Amino acid sequence: MKLKNVLFEIEGSIAVVTINRPDKLNALNSKTINELHQVFQNLDDNNAIRVIILTGSGEKAFVAGADIAEFAEYTAREGKRLSKEGQEKLFDYVENLKTPVIAAVNGFALGGGLELAMACHFRVASHNARLGLPEVSLGVIPGYGGTQRLPQLVGKGRAMEMILTAGMIDVDRAFEFGLVNHVTSVEELNGFCKKIALKIASNSPIAISYAIKAVNAGFKDDQDGFQTEIKAFGACFATEDFEEGTTAFLEKRKADFPGH
Ligand code: COA
Repeated sequence: MKLKNVLFEIEGSIAVVTINRPDKLNALNSKTINELHQVFQNLDDNNAIRVIILTGSGEKAFVAGADIAEFAEYTAREGKRLSKEGQEKLFDYVENLKTPVIAAVNGFALGGGLELAMACHFRVASHNARLGLPEVSLGVIPGYGGTQRLPQLVGKGRAMEMILTAGMIDVDRAFEFGLVNHVTSVEELNGFCKKIALKIASNSPIAISYAIKAVNAGFKDDQDGFQTEIKAFGACFATEDFEEGTTAFLEKRKADFPGH
């Protein structure tokens, strides 16, 4: 697949994926969603990639939302399909990858942009970021998981206020809410995310993928988080990573994990 709206670069075990429609503030149209799906799938299948950083192109936006021009004429049936397909192809897909994804929020993260950042495993933002779910100002509701993930991350009352006012919050408020884990300067954002990524990359990728699965299971109605944890914990004992991790500790050396 030839990519037009998404760029990616690989530096050792870390991949940086950049949504690249800066003239439209990186708004997510269906082509961009399809390309992101393809890129994430390829990177997740690549055992050498241990962490993915997702960011937006340009100085203004991470992603300013779903592409309003694309869906403005949709019928109710098309609207439902847009939401369902988007959730399956991108938002749920990213959340359930075995490779951790860090959102490097470098500007506006609105609507689908905030929803995408929330589908990532955690978020770091630069000072200029503004976050919000403005959908009700357009006569629609968040459709890419925002009504579910925002309350999970910040609590129901804060999520309700953000969704119902359609307002934006700045990074200080987002940090106070726990919506972003760290705030950096614009210049430091990528380097900061890479530092965290390197820390993650030195750990067992198999254990990391099981940890993601167990944490996510607790937020799914059809799964039992504690039971998932028990199963995943047990499964770790049969892995090369467990053998290497425990042996390295006992031999007082740094573990060198083979990969997924
Ligand atoms: N969908 C489609 N196009 C979008 C977009 C979106 N979600 N967000 C921005 N754009 C486009 C604008 O239409 C404009 O395109 P143009 O130059 O061809 O007219 C371009 O990106 C730049 O945006 P502009 O509005 O001129 O920038 P600004 O700095 O004045 O305002 C925002 C920035 C983010 C406040 C404003 O673009 C905005 O409100 N965007 C929509 C946010 C939103 O409601 N998202 C949820 C969608 S469900």
